[in-house]
Amino acid sequence: MKILVINGSPKGKRSNSYKLTRSFVEGISEKTDVECEEIFVKDKNIGTCLGCFACWNKTPGVCVVKDDMKDVLDKILWADIVIWSFGLYYFNVPGKMKLLVDRQLPLALPFMVSESESGGHPARFDMSGKRHVIISTCGFYTAKGNYGSVNAMFDHFLGKGRYETIYCGQGELFRVEALHDRTDEYLSYVHSAGKEFVEGGISEQTRENLNELLFPRETFETMADASWGVSKDTGEKEDETYIFTKQMASMYNKASYKGNDIVLEMCYTDEGRSYQIVLKKDGYEVLKDNFLSPTTKVITPFTVWKDIAAGKISGSQAMMKKLYRVEGDFDVMLNWGKYFGSGNTKQTSETNSSNKKDKGTSLMLTLIPWITFWVAAAIDTYAGALVSIGVCALMGIIFFRFRKTFYDMLSTTAVAGLSVLALQVPEMINLILPGSYLAFGLMWSLSCLTKVPLTAWYSMNSYNGESALQNPLFVRTNRILTLAWGVLYIITSVWTFFLMGTPVSPYLAIINNVMPILMGIFTKWFQNWYPAHYASK
Ligand SMILES: Cc1cc2nc3c(=O)[nH]c(=O)nc-3n(C[C@H](O)[C@H](O)[C@H](O)COP(=O)(O)O)c2cc1C
Repeated sequence: MKILVINGSPKGKRSNSYKLTRSFVEGISEKTDVECEEIFVKDKNIGTCLGCFACWNKTPGVCVVKDDMKDVLDKILWADIVIWSFGLYYFNVPGKMKLLVDRQLPLALPFMVSESESGGHPARFDMSGKRHVIISTCGFYTAKGNYGSVNAMFDHFLGKGRYETIYCGQGELFRVEALHDRTDEYLSYVHSAGKEFVEGGISEQTRENLNELLFPRETFETMADASWGVSKDTGEKEDETYIFTKQMASMYNKASYKGNDIVLEMCYTDEGRSYQIVLKKDGYEVLKDNFLSPTTKVITPFTVWKDIAAGKISGSQAMMKKLYRVEGDFDVMLNWGKYFGSGNTKQTSETNSSNKKDKGTSLMLTLIPWITFWVAAAIDTYAGALVSIGVCALMGIIFFRFRKTFYDMLSTTAVAGLSVLALQVPEMINLILPGSYLAFGLMWSLSCLTKVPLTAWYSMNSYNGESALQNPLFVRTNRILTLAWGVLYIITSVWTFFLMGTPVSPYLAIINNVMPILMGIFTKWFQNWYPAHYASK
């Protein structure tokens, strides 16, 4: 497949529209062999059309102006697909590209065609098999309503409905590194569009994704206004740290509001500047002075925070490397993605619905078989073992509602096995019961040797799902907790072994259940305390 890209941006390879164009071509090349030629109009010597019509009468098909345009026309004739790529300038193509459009006159014959309502000229060459695509970004929040002139022009010279379009608003965001999560997502849709284009046509789903705003209008316009670096009120130049903080604040997702205003203080140590972002129910406010009492204080070099925002280093990794520290309530840090997510409505609703589809895990699936066994078998070995086997069998149904983990399966299998053993040799219950505590404790402790400790598989539900597993501090907190629980149950197995059959025996069930309750309270506290404590250093 021969592809010709004609990029009309004065920025050449730095063009936002060119980024989309590359993704589109890469999409095509995933499906078929591609030979791609690129023309950057800015680098070409293309003069204005003289309006002499020599290409129609004196030298048919040949322009009298001797410049790079001959090469451009040859390449247009050569290509199977021509991609017109440009940023929208005053609701049309940039000036130099318009020169190129005008200079296509040699490709047409002079005669009038009667089929066209407004008049037209037939093609000099067979263009019927050629496909055209327009890929363009514009600066306003939406492409809708901005491409009327572009469409009108291309309708006339390519034919209405005879070309594909990808128009994208908020084009300048494609060069903002800090927003690459969202712009990369958009580029992946353009990539899909390229794949689908050569396979028949862009699907409805992809078209829907492409039509989605990069960011909601309010977020984008606040970010765009802040990006100029001059005050909207006074027109004076603003400090880079202030612009950056305002842009960060504009990403605030009101839906994350939990009932209390959050005062996030950003202290840029290398620049000696601090700002507060107040996250409220109806929006946010950025304070330069008259500070409130901060909920959370981030103490960081500005350069580090910029690198985090640009995705050069992850926030959690930077914290583990002690590149910045946090004082106060740590919740906003753990849920940063929720507070300062892309705010893209579609993305959010898709995430929500996929969350509904992606069932959560539940620690209860692991605990239920064990607790049943410990309580039931302690009361009556035989009946207890039968009940436990029944519960293990029922777990199959419960599993259906949740996402099961390796530890859920291991627990059900282990308890079923121990129950069968108790039925076979009930006289050994004094060994089997402590043994079950030991097995449970070992399961927890040994999981600490793996990449993801046991509790992390369950507590991730409250911290953005599996993405939390990439957070070293989250994993570290869970490793400590998992080990604490593991050790508790290993010790439990020891005292259960020694106390069973003694006068204390009737109280064992109480002791063995009170300890985990206390441990549960500790866990709840530790989960909040430890990350905050670590980050404050
Ligand atoms: C001179 C000029 C005129 C522009 N006119 C418009 C316009 O009419 N509508 C719009 O939405 N954006 C307009 N923009 C913004 C560009 O379309 C936007 O920055 C685009 O992403 C640039 O794409 P490029 O990097 O591929 O050149 C204009 C920008 C410039 C410099």
